[in-house]
Amino acid sequence: MTGSERGGSFYDVPHVFERYLSHRHSGVSSPNYVMEEPALLEELGTVAGLRVLDLGCGDAAIGQVLLNAGCRSYLGLDGSAAMVEAGNAALRGTSGRVEMVDIEDFSAPPSSFDLIVSRLAFHYVNDIQPVLAACHACLSPGGRIVFTVVHPVLTSYDSGTREKRTSWVVDDYFVDGPRARSWMGGTVTWFHRTVEDYVVALMRTGFTLTSLRECQPREDRFNGDVAELARRRRVPLFLLLAGTRTG
Ligand SMILES: C[S@@+](CC[C@H](N)C(=O)[O-])C[C@H]1O[C@@H](n2cnc3c(N)ncnc32)[C@H](O)[C@@H]1O
Repeated sequence: MTGSERGGSFYDVPHVFERYLSHRHSGVSSPNYVMEEPALLEELGTVAGLRVLDLGCGDAAIGQVLLNAGCRSYLGLDGSAAMVEAGNAALRGTSGRVEMVDIEDFSAPPSSFDLIVSRLAFHYVNDIQPVLAACHACLSPGGRIVFTVVHPVLTSYDSGTREKRTSWVVDDYFVDGPRARSWMGGTVTWFHRTVEDYVVALMRTGFTLTSLRECQPREDRFNGDVAELARRRRVPLFLLLAGTRTG
C-alpha cells in the first residue's frame, strides 16, 4: 500500500483538505447534500437534550446543525489536525468542541453519550468491531448510534478513472480488506467490507439494528437539475446504519 495515506493524515495534505471541503459544501453537485445528509437528518430525528459524540467529525458541519437543534452537548473527534482546527473554528462561540483522537483509540466512561454519529469515517477503519464495542460501552441505555459509510458496492473496486463516471464496476465484493483509492487528488486507503459485515458487527457488539438505508437521492435537493438527479439514481453511494443500545 505504498503511497497511500491512512485516515486522518490524508486530510492533512493541503490540496486534499481544500479540495475535499470545497466539494463537500458544493450544494447540488455534492452527493452528501443530495443523498447522505437528508437520510441522516431524517434518521437522527429529535436531538434536543442529547449528549452527542461525532466520530471522524471533519469540519463539524453537523455539530452546528445539532447544536442549533438543541442538543445538550457536542464533541467531535477527528484524526486530522487540519480538520480539528476547522471544526473548532466553525464551533467557536458554541459549547461544542473538537479533539484530535483516532477513532480506533476512542473510549469513554459508561453513559457518557446519548447519541453517536459518524459520517463517512468508518470505512477508514480496519476493524470496526472494537470501535462499535467502545461506542456501545459509552452510550446510555436506549442510546443510539447512526453512521454512514461509502457504500460497499463502491469500496469493493476502484476503476482508477478521474473522469465523471458513466459506468461502475463491482468486483472482489466478498474480499474484505484495504483498497488504495484515488480520491480528491490523492491516494487514500479505504477498508472494504460487505453490507452484511456492517450489520453483523453492529449486532455482535450488542446493538439492536433499527435502520438500514441506501440514501437514495432526494428530488427536492436538486434545484430542478434533472440530469444530475438521473445520474445520482444510477448507483448507491452511501450506506446508513442505525442501532440502539437496548441493554
Ligand atoms: C469523508 S470525511 C467526513 C467528515 C465529516 N464526518 C463530514 O461528514 O463532513 C472523513 C473524516 O474522517 C476522519 N478520519 C479518517 N480516519 C480516521 C481515524 N482513523 N480516526 C479519526 N478520524 C479519522 C478524516 O480526518 C476526515 O475528517
